[in-house]
Amino acid sequence: MKNPRLQLHLEDLRKQIHYHNYRYHVLDAPVISDLEYDRLLAELKQLESEHPDWITPDSPTQRAGSAPSEKFEKVRHPAPILSLANAFGTEDALAWFERVKKIDDRVERTKFVVEPKIDGLSVVLHYEDGIFIKGATRGDGQVGENITANLRTIRAIPLRIPVARQAEIDESHSKANENPLFSSSPTKNAPNSYMQVPKHMVVRGEVFINIKDFEKLNQRLEESGEKTYLNPRNTAAGSLRQLDPALTATRPLTLLTYQIIYSDGPVPFTQWETLEYLQSLGFPITNSARRFDNIHAAIYFTEKWESQRDKLPFEADGMVIKIDDLRLFADLGVAGKDPRGAIAFKFPAREVSTSLLEIVVNVGRTGVLTPQAVLDPVEIGGVIVERATLHNFDFIAEKDIRPGDRVLVKRAGEVIPYVIGPLKDLRVKVIKPYLPPTTCPTCQQPVEHLEGEVAWYCVNAACPAQLVRNVEHFVSKGAMDITGMGIRIVEQLILEGLIKDVADLYKLDKKSLLKLGGFADKKADNLLRSISESKKQPLNHLLTALGIRGVGEVSAVDLSRVFPSLDSLSSASLENLQNIPGIGPNIAAAIVDWFSRPNNRLLLDKLRKAQVWPVEDLKKTNRKSNALDGLTFVVTGTLVGFNRESIKEFIEQNGGKVTDSVSKKTNYVVLGENPGSKLEKARLLNVQVIGEDDLRIKVVKNA
Ligand code: IVH
Repeated sequence: MKNPRLQLHLEDLRKQIHYHNYRYHVLDAPVISDLEYDRLLAELKQLESEHPDWITPDSPTQRAGSAPSEKFEKVRHPAPILSLANAFGTEDALAWFERVKKIDDRVERTKFVVEPKIDGLSVVLHYEDGIFIKGATRGDGQVGENITANLRTIRAIPLRIPVARQAEIDESHSKANENPLFSSSPTKNAPNSYMQVPKHMVVRGEVFINIKDFEKLNQRLEESGEKTYLNPRNTAAGSLRQLDPALTATRPLTLLTYQIIYSDGPVPFTQWETLEYLQSLGFPITNSARRFDNIHAAIYFTEKWESQRDKLPFEADGMVIKIDDLRLFADLGVAGKDPRGAIAFKFPAREVSTSLLEIVVNVGRTGVLTPQAVLDPVEIGGVIVERATLHNFDFIAEKDIRPGDRVLVKRAGEVIPYVIGPLKDLRVKVIKPYLPPTTCPTCQQPVEHLEGEVAWYCVNAACPAQLVRNVEHFVSKGAMDITGMGIRIVEQLILEGLIKDVADLYKLDKKSLLKLGGFADKKADNLLRSISESKKQPLNHLLTALGIRGVGEVSAVDLSRVFPSLDSLSSASLENLQNIPGIGPNIAAAIVDWFSRPNNRLLLDKLRKAQVWPVEDLKKTNRKSNALDGLTFVVTGTLVGFNRESIKEFIEQNGGKVTDSVSKKTNYVVLGENPGSKLEKARLLNVQVIGEDDLRIKVVKNA
């Protein structure tokens, strides 16, 4: 027995849920809390469980309801689902324009719409009387696969159109307050009453995953020990072709629409109005589309997006430039599968696939073994890539990357190219899994693995590969700064047995240098002078040069302020070291460990004998007071009694620290004339601002 009041209430509930779903998933602007939303949904579920025969296919409860299927049925599209021709750059795009202009001179006067080209999967959505009844993949453009159950789980897809508008909801809410059972009237508030929706309508869009959601998904999978996905597109593709919609429902798929494939109602004459119309029905559309009066403006806009593609929330492989006038678009016809009326302006690819020829292992300065991919050379974004990082051996195992695989390689911005993972489907012949080396590839000594660390180490201090990296680091600019000592020379010196550690550099003489290939008189003299000069480097440079794990240029300065020479530092206790500002427990432990090793003790002896033993001038570095102990300062503007160097010295000699930028850790900002943006930052973060006199008073009072 049907209760009309209850049915009306049910309908109102559905309408509200559709609307709030739309606010959340399409507009990204929810107006109620998740809790309120869940309550509405729970109430609807409750009512429907009491009256299962009242459930309609467009009910919001029906998004993830259906059982897994055996296979996907075929669906013939009502019109071909076309692809796009590509343009690689401005010239190509202009050539396209010239070409279509020759075919039809209306092209000269039409407008152009530019939209992001979403790197997702085309889907075709069928609506009957405003209800989502069927959805398909693109397939071959003529026939696709019926993936309705999976598409239903995507919240951005409206299950009924148009989605109720705010005014209508407000109205039903105010009525609901009076009497929930009379909250809507089917004739007045029926969805179709204010907008003509065609009886049959077929819309095309792109299903994809936003980058942030993809990262969250992978994080979640990693935390639960499951396999992570390669990239958003592959994940979206896999999720759409799941036979069990319950699985699809757990993937953060979303949608943007851009084309009407078929409608038996009136349709807009332009692409721009098509987007507006789709939006008014409740379909999600991009907010990055723009319309231009001529091709040049359209191309200019597209070029600008190329450098800003990272601002889009999803992966875009280009922009689509479309002729706005849809009758002209249709009249231009198609060439193969590509409509002549649009062109994909492709951004340089950042992800390409190529063959993994070999995995080589490099030995770093600290003995860490790092696997590197040797690739079949391939162009990524204008650069030929032959090598890419494989991160570490755990990564190779987790992704099951094997030499001989076709792999996806990414190169974006400044980062070193890296392998994302193998394309396992393309593994044709039987290839063996990769096994990490058990011995160092250079010295053949067994490698070691520290509990809880991913890295594998070659712990042989005499390993020539480590020595090359060590010497390279020792002579570098922030360390001993020995100019003229390139990697080739370092390798030669080691190969010829002229150096066995960095201290041996100071034993080199002209005779032995001249024996090396490519050394003439002058070059040898210059190098020897440069080596000799390096003995004058201050302690902090030598400390950096030693390459103690964790001791970089900054902590080397911190240490040399407290310990005037390697004599005092080498006998410092763990506790002593930890108390130095800027030195944490890990660095402190690494220092103690380094000085305890016999090999390093020998090295220190050799350095001392070679007079590479800087001793800091105690008067210069010694503390004047501890008045500013533990305090961090930032200076902005021009001071009266100090210049930039002298205020730094003053603060440091009294125990304080000076940094460049204001953060929450800054204790004081010292303010001078004409301060910069640091002052604003200080105000924003509530950091105390003082003058230079305040600073002096602080020191005098506390000293
Ligand atoms: S228009 C006649 N617009 O790119 C209409 N396609 O490489 C032809 N795509 O198969 C397509 N974003 O899957 C169009 N804003 C957009 C698009 C877009 C992504 C995809 C679509 C198409 C492929 C062509």
